[in-house]
Amino acid sequence: MKTKFNAAGIIGLGSCVPDKVLTNFDLEKMVDTSDEWIVKRTGISERRILDKSTPASHIGAEAARKAISNAGLTPLDIDMIIVTTETPDYLTPSMACMIQDQIGAGKCPAFDLNAACSGFIYGLVVARQFIITGSCRYVLVVGCEGLSRVVDWEDRSTCILFSDGAGAAVVGAVEEGYGIISTYIGADGSLGHNITIPCCYMNESDVEKRHHENKRVIWLDGGEVFKFAVKALEEATNRVLQDAGLTINDVDLLVPHQANARIIEGAAKRLEIDNESIYVNIHKYGNMSSASIPVALDEAMRNKMIKKGDILVLVGFGGGLTLGSVLLKWNIG
Ligand code: COA
Repeated sequence: MKTKFNAAGIIGLGSCVPDKVLTNFDLEKMVDTSDEWIVKRTGISERRILDKSTPASHIGAEAARKAISNAGLTPLDIDMIIVTTETPDYLTPSMACMIQDQIGAGKCPAFDLNAACSGFIYGLVVARQFIITGSCRYVLVVGCEGLSRVVDWEDRSTCILFSDGAGAAVVGAVEEGYGIISTYIGADGSLGHNITIPCCYMNESDVEKRHHENKRVIWLDGGEVFKFAVKALEEATNRVLQDAGLTINDVDLLVPHQANARIIEGAAKRLEIDNESIYVNIHKYGNMSSASIPVALDEAMRNKMIKKGDILVLVGFGGGLTLGSVLLKWNIG
């Protein structure tokens, strides 16, 4: 008989970013932009870029190995792999199947989940269900992105924003009262046209918006996404706080999706939370989509910024448009 668990949480974390750094000064040589403009409007100073011969799944596999080891497990202990990505190396095999093979995780179920930059939040919510129903003991969630491959490097309004990277978490049963306390996920497909990356089909409007010969690149309406993002961070944070019967004053660390420092500042003001309680690493990486939150969380843990019993809110927004949040009572330490 399956054992049902009352509480699920993150029991191990890991991350991996490519070695190659692309600075704002490098971008000055590629498009009509400046370090000053990029820092002032986005907070980004540099980003990480995969070299041409490396599949993004390689950094996902490395992040996964670190998370599994951090949890004190081996790859054969993993019962399910969920990879959150909007930039898979292949549509098939899925990135999850590729990572399963690369880390030697046996024949466990493995699938990709695309909720764009909210992907890691969606992944945690799905993983939690498999733990509390007793279907799985350990679920690996990997946020893995190779956004540099879908960027038009001649479009200054988008190429400054994105980066490659991977972050992973092992989700498992934890002591009651700890781990994932409340969750919220949402989507508004009617706003989907504001961020697009065409794949097997593209409508005329999406063809016209792209000025480069390669049309399979990211396009976004920066202003519209900006407005959505500030409200989404506020709404999704408040939802999980309300469900947990807590207020913003109870939050020890807010880990938001890292898309633009001004989006985070705008949301922080609306939420009335101190800057010291928000984890920001956007200056080093830019926007790594679904990898941003797990990389930030892993850094915060390694920098000893989180201790057992702390209240954390992970909160994201992105293409779809999607949004989501997870409130955790930290169980490691
Ligand atoms: N360097 C210099 N100038 C630039 C530039 C760059 N890299 N990119 C755009 N500009 C110019 C524009 O052409 C515009 O010039 P104009 O006034 O002569 O037309 C001017 O700067 C202002 O552009 P605007 O788009 O209004 O800037 P902004 O302050 O809104 O910042 C973004 C643009 C994209 C940085 C911002 O809207 C943003 O971050 N949005 C969210 C995007 C995002 O993160 N999406 C993914 C979500 S998961």
